[in-house]
Amino acid sequence: MRIALGRRGAPVALAGCASVLALGVSACGSGGEAPADLVAGKQVFVEKCGACHTLNRAGTKGTTGPNLDDAFRQALADGMNRATVRGTVWDQVLHPAKLSTNSPAYMPPKLAEGRDAVNVAAYVAAVTGKSGQDTGVLATAVKAAGGGQPAVAKAGVLQIDADPNGQLAYVTDKASAPAGALEIRSKNASQVDHDIAVDVDGQTQAGEVVKDGGTSVVKVDLKPGKYTFFCTVQGHKAAGMQGTLTVK
Ligand code: HEC
Repeated sequence: MRIALGRRGAPVALAGCASVLALGVSACGSGGEAPADLVAGKQVFVEKCGACHTLNRAGTKGTTGPNLDDAFRQALADGMNRATVRGTVWDQVLHPAKLSTNSPAYMPPKLAEGRDAVNVAAYVAAVTGKSGQDTGVLATAVKAAGGGQPAVAKAGVLQIDADPNGQLAYVTDKASAPAGALEIRSKNASQVDHDIAVDVDGQTQAGEVVKDGGTSVVKVDLKPGKYTFFCTVQGHKAAGMQGTLTVK
């Protein structure tokens, strides 16, 4: 269990709710505001949060920040209700607390604001700690990443873009190219850092790390065989941002 919740006990959670109410946003469950939109909240989560956080129901596997299924498990078991979790998450999104002094990782403030922050907090609070999969409209809220058509090299260029919604995946996990000189290009439309790399003769050859529409480019010379293409940003390959390149 992370120290996080030990430190953030009930008083912190209540403070989260109080500040929510102070701003007139009904993220604590009452009030006359429109109810949170969980579908929109899931989409925001996958796009803005999932690269750093694991959350089972959202299908995200980021490891930079704490696992958000584990984060509230003890507190929920101890009787904290999900409305309070919602206030805590909302507060964290707008005013990220540095939870442990020896953690080098950092959560940028205001990744989501306004309704987006309300919706994402509601979604996290609704699903945290739950096994299995989302059902109903939530099941199809986010398109599964990585299942696109295999990439095929054309005129010495192989294009394998990163998932445009920020999921830790390329648009496809299969690619093929003829042996010889090859330029691998990976456009990244998301706001999450990615590159593209291949191990050649035991050495990792990587393009530059890009985001916001940048393209990572790596030039390699490949003999026939099977290679793994992957993202070198920490935790991304392990979370599934990789695929197989077959060279013939
Ligand atoms: C760039 C990586 C990154 C992104 C993106 C990110 N977070 Fe975080 N988050 C962190 C880190 C790191 C921590 C822990 C801070 C610490 O330990 O000092 C954290 C902590 C948290 C916590 C507190 C968990 C606990 O143990 O109490 C919550 C809740 C949270 N994030 C939710 C979100 C939500 C919702 C989003 C999207 C709007 C988001 N995060 C986006 C890195 C990130």
